Amino acid sequence: MTAHRYFPGPPDHVPLELIHEFDIYQFSPGVNDPLEQWGNLLASDAPRIFYTHHNGGHWVFLDYEDVREAFRNDARFSTFQTPIPPIEPYPVMQPQGVDPPEHKKFRSLLAPLFTPAAVGKMQAELRRRTTALLEAFVDEGRCEFGRDFASLLPTGMFLYLMGMPEDRLTEFVKLAEVFMRSNDEAERAQNIQQIYDVIAEYLAWRSTQLGDDLGSVLISARDENGQPFEQQDVLNCGFLLFVAGLDTVTSTMTFIWRHLARNAEARRELVSMIDDREKLTVAVDELLRIHAVPNIYRRVKKDMVYHGITMKENDRVVLPVSVANRDEKVFEHADEIDLHREVNNHLTFGAGPHRCVGSHLAKTEVTIALQEWLRRIPDFDVATDAQIRGHLGPTLGFSQLPLVWKPKA
Ligand code: HEM
Repeated sequence: MTAHRYFPGPPDHVPLELIHEFDIYQFSPGVNDPLEQWGNLLASDAPRIFYTHHNGGHWVFLDYEDVREAFRNDARFSTFQTPIPPIEPYPVMQPQGVDPPEHKKFRSLLAPLFTPAAVGKMQAELRRRTTALLEAFVDEGRCEFGRDFASLLPTGMFLYLMGMPEDRLTEFVKLAEVFMRSNDEAERAQNIQQIYDVIAEYLAWRSTQLGDDLGSVLISARDENGQPFEQQDVLNCGFLLFVAGLDTVTSTMTFIWRHLARNAEARRELVSMIDDREKLTVAVDELLRIHAVPNIYRRVKKDMVYHGITMKENDRVVLPVSVANRDEKVFEHADEIDLHREVNNHLTFGAGPHRCVGSHLAKTEVTIALQEWLRRIPDFDVATDAQIRGHLGPTLGFSQLPLVWKPKA
């Protein structure tokens, strides 16, 4: 029996010429690469701002300037209750799901913990973890990149920063994965509850033995009146840290490593600058521009006319950063990867009040991973028998990426 899903027509305020057939969770036939899927959309005749009826119905912005404007203009575009398809109630993530000025409360708590100087102090631990992961499989000449490396590095680092026991690694990888991938409402609701339970259980345990970890900082925080933060808000912040910093880094790395596996020249270029931190930083920024994984969601705050288009309160908007970062009006030869690109105002980490708090940590994770990997494995390829499965949704990436190389004799 064929399953039919009923999609209601677009709301009355959406003119027919702005409707385009596109499902942010489904590949078009014959496409399996998330960047190709969104790149095809960019190259199509889709209006630069269009409406799709899929997943509850929502707008999609394609131009860099519109995406940037939606990131920055919190008076028009809210981060509060934005999931697509809609889930109610949805966690009010602190500070991401709260509009300014209220979002400052948790933003000011987190920001100092992830400055370049603070991340500098995490480097030794990060390098130790990277090296240990690599040493486990380098002599085998193959690995499943996501499973053996890219998911374990950021998740392990999260456990370390939060002061959580390492034996929960596999469980956490799985929970973060479902959160980012699933568009099944029942599965997502259950997954959100499971993540909350894990964080709540941990915070309850941590409050009995405070340390110098991130969890203890959240528990001990006081507002300007010296009062502890609401317990639910602390939980919501733990939840955000869980979902914001794990799968994003993993997915970004799967893209970058797949690119390198298929480009000997790019590998050679990176190897040549491996100890030149300045050059490597520029190169990593370019790899992050072209391999931007987030599709960020917003909700229209009040009825408005935006660039001549009527949008209604509660309309959802998708901001596909990978598309914005390839806007020719902003980036010269936008589709080309230039590891020496001088001006690179990409939106991979967002913009405005919610710009990624963890961007320095994310960049450092990718940089150290590249350095340690390329020192040991300067040449590698995608396994010829490989089935690479891409995934769409709030983060783009590859669920499987089997890599092979010649082990040292
Ligand atoms: C390559 C990896 C990453 C990417 C591409 C990324 C991307 C983003 C983006 C686009 C936003 C803005 C969201 C919005 O405007 O609604 C954001 C926010 C955030 N990210 Fe990241 N992120 C990454 C890694 C991390 C890491 C490792 C952490 C861990 C600390 C982190 C923590 C956060 C937090 C706490 C916010 C919310 C900031 C706020 O609302 O003020 N991210 N991230």
